[in-house]
Amino acid sequence: MVFDIDMIKKLYAALPGKVEATRKMLGRPLTLAEKILYAHLYAPTTTPFERGKSYVEFAPDRVAMQDATAQMALLQFMTCGRASVAVPSTVHCDHLIQAKTGAEADLATAIDTNKEVYDFLASISDKYGIGFWKPGAGIIHQVVLENYAFPGGLMIGTDSHTPNAGGLGMLAIGVGGADAVDVMAGLAWELKMPKLIGVKLTGKLSGWASPKDVILRVAGILTVKGGTGCIVEYFGEGADSMSATGKGTICNMGAEIGATCSVFAYDTKMSDYLKGTSRKEVAELADGVREHLRPDEAVYNDPAKFYDQVIEINLDELEPYVNGPFTPDLAWPISKFAQAVKENNWPEKLEVALIGSCTNSSYEDISRSASLAKQAIDKDLPVHSEFTITPGSELVRFTIERDGLLKTFADFGGVVLANACGPCIGQWARHIDDPNRKNSIITSFNRNFAKRNDGLASTHAFVASPEIVTALAIAGDLTFNPLTDTLKNRKGEDVKLDEPAGFELPPRGFDVKDAGYQAPAEDGSGVQVIVSPTSDRLQLLAPFTAWEGTDLKGLKLLIKAKGKCTTDHISMAGPWLKFRGHLDNISNNMLIGAINGFNDKTDTVKNQLTGEYGPVPATARAYKAAGIGSIVVGDENYGEGSSREHAAMEPRHLGVRAILVKSFARIHETNLKKQGMLGLTFNDKDDYEKIQEDDSIDILGLTEFTPGKPLTVVLNHKDGSKDEIVVNHTYNEQQIEWFKAGGALNVIRAQFAA
Ligand code: F3S
Repeated sequence: MVFDIDMIKKLYAALPGKVEATRKMLGRPLTLAEKILYAHLYAPTTTPFERGKSYVEFAPDRVAMQDATAQMALLQFMTCGRASVAVPSTVHCDHLIQAKTGAEADLATAIDTNKEVYDFLASISDKYGIGFWKPGAGIIHQVVLENYAFPGGLMIGTDSHTPNAGGLGMLAIGVGGADAVDVMAGLAWELKMPKLIGVKLTGKLSGWASPKDVILRVAGILTVKGGTGCIVEYFGEGADSMSATGKGTICNMGAEIGATCSVFAYDTKMSDYLKGTSRKEVAELADGVREHLRPDEAVYNDPAKFYDQVIEINLDELEPYVNGPFTPDLAWPISKFAQAVKENNWPEKLEVALIGSCTNSSYEDISRSASLAKQAIDKDLPVHSEFTITPGSELVRFTIERDGLLKTFADFGGVVLANACGPCIGQWARHIDDPNRKNSIITSFNRNFAKRNDGLASTHAFVASPEIVTALAIAGDLTFNPLTDTLKNRKGEDVKLDEPAGFELPPRGFDVKDAGYQAPAEDGSGVQVIVSPTSDRLQLLAPFTAWEGTDLKGLKLLIKAKGKCTTDHISMAGPWLKFRGHLDNISNNMLIGAINGFNDKTDTVKNQLTGEYGPVPATARAYKAAGIGSIVVGDENYGEGSSREHAAMEPRHLGVRAILVKSFARIHETNLKKQGMLGLTFNDKDDYEKIQEDDSIDILGLTEFTPGKPLTVVLNHKDGSKDEIVVNHTYNEQQIEWFKAGGALNVIRAQFAA
């Protein structure tokens, strides 16, 4: 058993009391999301939180990490002094496997190329009580759904499609590595109380329509920003009639509308899936608290009263959708798609069709697609596009192989790729004659931004259900509508495809020989974490040094960034991603995308020690080597974008002591605080103009650093003149402790050492 049944028992035992207390406090019936959120508060409350306004501290039940984001999260966790993680956690090796020729060869290459990363992740998981899913075991969200997700739980995962677990009634939220570190270290996890969108599903899916079409339709209605800051809660007879994995698909793609997460209420479909995946005990426990794992009845009767927004979709009338290109919210019902293709001059020829991924590789998806592949074979239809299958897990792959479905795909001309992200995240060595040629592909994945799948700007990527992807693969033509059109078979006959048919769960049950799971050591104290000292991809972290106890004087201005400065400007992605686990190497990208306000150039700043201009990281290193601290000045909304913790760790590593800006993006500001940095804002935004290129800067008032009390900054200009300005901060008592200790993890380490 890989899941933690005792944790679930404890949660369910407390659930009725917590739900009742919340109902009383709010004085009204509750939605499902409210029940789960209030049951997971880090500390009890006597006052309700305001949706969309209050920042709330939560205690999640689980953490899941994929291999790219886990590296820095775990390197940081190592420094906090705990013997093991505070909550059940898992690592999944899925992002680093490149799809090239097929599952076996690609997996072997990945194991070789990424050996040091995998060895590190396996050993650190072993040591600190973390479940480790080896390369080839499957994609994080599919593996979580099959093994760990449970109704009424709250989990975080270091990947945007973590909400997939909403298919089993869990609030599952995608976060950055810094949040994962906090929760594994036992700290509270903070989230702005989400608003709630209710989606009422009436009717029942039939024929060609599938759960994927529900979310493709919702994306069309809400657009890529419509769910921002919201939890989407699905309800109604249509919701209860869908398979748990279908619900997972819908929740997975809630990320495409910017939703915090999405969730379905506990029902018999979830119970069936739990039982089908060897978790009968969880299903029985959930049955015992069923009413608390669903919204209160009154919510169904008058949803507009309880949700901030309500959408209704009738599944009886839902058509299959094709969304794209270049954005997942450009939604076309299949009956209008051919016309859209022609009018927009998108390439009609379909070159590659790809099914699977974390979004759509359930037994139901695969069996329905295979039913179409089988028809093509039986009806003598040629297949005109390349076709690939990416199983979401070894459990699914083994089962569909046993049941002959992979053989059907092979006979159909399909190529089975590794149980990994592959083409979904650009890990795809696509063979194409001319990379600049406009071309079309279609996937059953979730994202279709330009270059995402194959790195080519010329590729028009569309997203649809696996059934539609398979049907279009046969036609090799985007203008084909399988609901109405016919195809010519090899005998020259006009043939129509029958509706797809499949099974929600394998009739003979799931099976697997080696699921690819490594359980952690019972006692990890003797386990050695494997990091080669010569590695350029991994580097053990030393704890940052504590504050010296004095005001900071003589800091050199490193850069006065002008205009937008997102986490991408501060810590660029692309080729730098391979250094995610090596703080010193990745620090060579620090602020290289930011525009220097004195010369409008990127990565060209004045070194005050030499008078020469050079790259930002090299200049910071020069100050650090001379024992001089530096300071970064920025504009509005500094650090917007992602929650990437590298954007806060790199300046800390290179000796930057403070970031002084007009305003911060909140997550980045918190990340700076966690790393023991000073994040300050101009009291008078016009003071930004007073910063000069050769300034040495003092920060005064730190010995009386107190919540709500501004600090003073003195700008010592080159000509001997000075400006004294007031700067604000938002540090609370605990965050001031973090600053003094040199970082939040140092505070935890001190607690464990005591
Ligand atoms: Fe992987 Fe794509 Fe899902 S990158 S986690 S398969 S969204």
